Amino acid sequence: MKSNNYLEILKPELDERNYQKISAIANPKVHQFIIKAAKLCAPHKIFICTDSKEDIAYVRKQAISTGEEKPLAIPGHTYHFDGIEDQGRDREVTKYLVPQKETLSKNLNQIERKKGLAEIKRLMKNSMRNHTMIIRFLSLGPTNSIFSIPCLQCTDSWYVAHTEDLLYRPAYEMFRQGNLPSELFCFLHSAGNLDKNMVSAQPEKKRIYIDYTEDTIYSINTQYAGNTVGLKKLALRLTIRKADREGWLAEHMLLMGVYGTKKRKTYFAGAFPSACGKTATAMLPGETILGDDIAYFRDIDGKLKAVNAEAGIFGIIQNITPSDDPTIYKVLTTPGEVIFSNILVKDKKPYWLGMDCKLPKEGINFSGKWYENKTNNKGNKIPPAHKNARYAVSLKALDNVDQQLDNPSGVELTGIMYGGRDAKAYVPVQQSFDWEHGIIAYGASLETETTFATLGKEGVSEINVMSIQDFVSIPLGKYIRNNLQFGKKLKNPPFIFGVNYFLRSKEGKFLNGIRDKHVWIKWMELRAHNNVKAIKSPTGLIPVYKDLKMLFRKVLRKDYKKEDYINQFTTRVPENIAKLERVEKFYRTNANDAPKELFKVVKEQKQRLLKA
Ligand code: GTP
Ligand code: MN
Repeated sequence: MKSNNYLEILKPELDERNYQKISAIANPKVHQFIIKAAKLCAPHKIFICTDSKEDIAYVRKQAISTGEEKPLAIPGHTYHFDGIEDQGRDREVTKYLVPQKETLSKNLNQIERKKGLAEIKRLMKNSMRNHTMIIRFLSLGPTNSIFSIPCLQCTDSWYVAHTEDLLYRPAYEMFRQGNLPSELFCFLHSAGNLDKNMVSAQPEKKRIYIDYTEDTIYSINTQYAGNTVGLKKLALRLTIRKADREGWLAEHMLLMGVYGTKKRKTYFAGAFPSACGKTATAMLPGETILGDDIAYFRDIDGKLKAVNAEAGIFGIIQNITPSDDPTIYKVLTTPGEVIFSNILVKDKKPYWLGMDCKLPKEGINFSGKWYENKTNNKGNKIPPAHKNARYAVSLKALDNVDQQLDNPSGVELTGIMYGGRDAKAYVPVQQSFDWEHGIIAYGASLETETTFATLGKEGVSEINVMSIQDFVSIPLGKYIRNNLQFGKKLKNPPFIFGVNYFLRSKEGKFLNGIRDKHVWIKWMELRAHNNVKAIKSPTGLIPVYKDLKMLFRKVLRKDYKKEDYINQFTTRVPENIAKLERVEKFYRTNANDAPKELFKVVKEQKQRLLKA
């Protein structure tokens, strides 16, 4: 059908003003998706959001007047709550829709496509009857760039639409000008029936379905941004498939500029599983932040160019203090646009766990009216704020935002780090012998403990391949092979580092402070420019004591004792061998297409360890 015919169908659904806005976009795919969404969800109104200040201000105003967000004392600050059972990404109800004749790795949660589509459509039927459907045009990656992925979001949540304003680049203009890349991602979200607290009244009917056949995501009966803001981890699952088809990489990584001597700036990327340090690393004071969650890599004339898929931060607020995180602390305590979620509110002030002051004994939180010793229906104490409480802000609100954020050509990357919650084995920082060793020994072998960022048990140790396991929508072996090959084609592949912020003593105490990571980063910067030597260990190249001593003094104004160095950087031989055995077993059981290089690198590392 031609665009005009679709517009005819849309016309009666929209008022004159909104009809004009949609007809300025000559893209039949856009019209078709809106028609489908409107037929299914039956919204009582449709609001087309352009990039204009007026439209964006309207979204924000509506988020407040519907009660999805409430204002705090500081101008521009609001807060929002998610339901008690909706405080993190929900692995269990997030499923891929897989056509009958296809197979997807068995460790991915999935449902037969037709069956899944029927189920989600039944749940979404008339779900917007009393709501407005908001239509947003956004871009993953900078607009008008080889990296751009045009995105169309339909939602009945003003909070979701408002959050997207802080986290993504507006792209109505890019859609209107019409020179779009061919593929479009579509997201349909409905909050479903809401209770008096403006959260989904039927959490047991929460579903998040990924239809990769049509690059579409459906989500219903949920508020938590990780489940509703389609462009975040849900889109990442689609992007990984797209990147695989097109020969580039989509990664769960931060991007930052690190200063060396004489204002030399070097770009690093870093992969850490959820709640393991991406945002904390990207935000180190004195360096620049380009991204904290999702990065796209392309090989452009033999150079690795990277962009941030996003333009804002949806960050964990627990433990944010002025001394550990001065940059974000300032944003969270001065006027400007911030959406807090699942914090404690008392007298229009936000409070969170691990903050630098005493928390009030009562207030409002995700459970409603909260008071000390309040318990849930299972008799467990409800904390004042949720561990996974977060803030949403635009990167542009930060003093140290990198000036290349919106550069359509990206930045050239010099180093990549991989790190997880590894209590026992890996040293705090080490450099790989080469690209292949780094990808396999640090990336593919990344082990971590589960955290509060996903629903389910915390502290369970698991392999989390390159910190992206939850989102890898292609066979694991293929994903690793794509990474190996990507680096082999580059003129100077980035240096690869393994980091571990969570190494513990036998008694279970962390061996490093939260700020120590700054020293590791500065050491990587020096290594990338060949300014310091390193020592060969069985698992990688490790720092020389005197260089770290110098950096601790310079960066943290602290003394670094030789005995701390020995404690932290001695190779833990049995723990490392045990780790490699778990890695090998994991790939033998979960990835029958694992590349042969993987077993080779693991075997060589094991031999080096046995020799030690
Ligand atoms: P997502 O946003 O969920 O993808 O997580 P993230 O990788 O951005 O995690 P973030 O940087 O927000 O860190 C999460 C948690 O790790 C916070 O509670 C921090 O306090 C804690 N953390 C960060 N760095 C360190 C560290 O060096 N040592 C220790 N012990 N904890 C840390
Ligand atoms: Mn983060």
